[in-house]
Amino acid sequence: MPFPISPVVSRVIPPPIGEIARLRRSIPAGAEPIDLCQAVPDYPPAPELTDHLAAVIAAPDTSRYTPDEGLEGVRDALSRRYQRIYGARIPSDSFILTVGASQAFWLAILVTSPPGSEVIVQTPAYFDHPMALESLGITPRFTPYDPRHPGLPDPDAIEGVITPRTTGIVIVTPSNPTGTVTPPQTLENIFDLAARHSIFLLLDETYADFTPPPPHRLFSRPDWDQTLIHVMSFGKSYALTGYRAGAIAGSRRVIDEALKIQDSQVVCQPRITQIALAHALDHLDRWAAERREELHRRNDLFVRLLAGSESPLRIASSGSFFAWVEHPFRGESGWEAARRLALQHGILSLPGEIFGPGLEPYLRLALGNMGEETIPVAVERLARVRG
Ligand SMILES: Cc1ncc(COP(=O)(O)O)c(C=O)c1O
Repeated sequence: MPFPISPVVSRVIPPPIGEIARLRRSIPAGAEPIDLCQAVPDYPPAPELTDHLAAVIAAPDTSRYTPDEGLEGVRDALSRRYQRIYGARIPSDSFILTVGASQAFWLAILVTSPPGSEVIVQTPAYFDHPMALESLGITPRFTPYDPRHPGLPDPDAIEGVITPRTTGIVIVTPSNPTGTVTPPQTLENIFDLAARHSIFLLLDETYADFTPPPPHRLFSRPDWDQTLIHVMSFGKSYALTGYRAGAIAGSRRVIDEALKIQDSQVVCQPRITQIALAHALDHLDRWAAERREELHRRNDLFVRLLAGSESPLRIASSGSFFAWVEHPFRGESGWEAARRLALQHGILSLPGEIFGPGLEPYLRLALGNMGEETIPVAVERLARVRG
């Protein structure tokens, strides 16, 4: 008899991107797959950034640990960035540099939410969040899905699912998978709601650099860190997804507790990533803004071409990296629809139901993976789909 696997973890869904990627092998020869599965920028990092890294790679320090929270100079650069973007002074010791936003999320949840608690996620939810919560024995509570406003959180709907076991609310803006940007005033209202119930608001702004200004003003509230935990990824902003560049910002109370986990989990964000971040944070605002413009152009082009085509796929929402579309295969799950698109049309997408219950009629297309020249090819394929 093999040793048992924890039933808490074995109940969690397998990583969906891996499941869809396996379909690649079955795509008929001749149809080059168009991979709209994972949200990865298709462009390389800024050449000045890779030049900078090449120049430091052989230095003896580059291969060493850093303090658990990350090098002070890098957290200072992060603090300057938050000042530029949010207009608020957040001291460097309010940050921990993490192994992607993914690990920042784990730190936040481990610090705040014991097994048996509940955390509210907006629907559709970024699938890794419920996966992480379930792996930790925490119940994700999905808000009702509103097809009129896909991905826009509604404070009343959130309040409706708060129970005595709720420890916090997770909001992702711009939304993965719908691209919807939560307006600053709605975020203020959710912050107030969380504060009233003495629960946390975890704001994941992984795609913040793809949002047109103005940003929210939550960091300007004198008491921001009593309610807010901020999670950020720099993987998308600077095309460094493989460097695993993330950060968490919170109160001293949160940071001190999180450092216990950081030390026992990863010790520190890799130093090479910190070196990359220090450079990017101080020098690549303009480069990141140009990428934002590029993503907007792609999104506009895709939406315009698809709407003007014969395709039966309907765009429910789109923005930043994503288009959230309704598929035409009535009665079929998102998995079945994604399989069809892959095997018959060579387009890899993610099924709606991984983003929350009842979302089988939808698919997520990650437009950031496809250069402008590929968009007409993808739309032509989608126009050949028959419902
Ligand atoms: C909303 C959201 N949060 C977090 C992450 C993970 O980011 P990272 O690669 O920095 O761990 C992703 C990645 O796709 C994401 O979409």
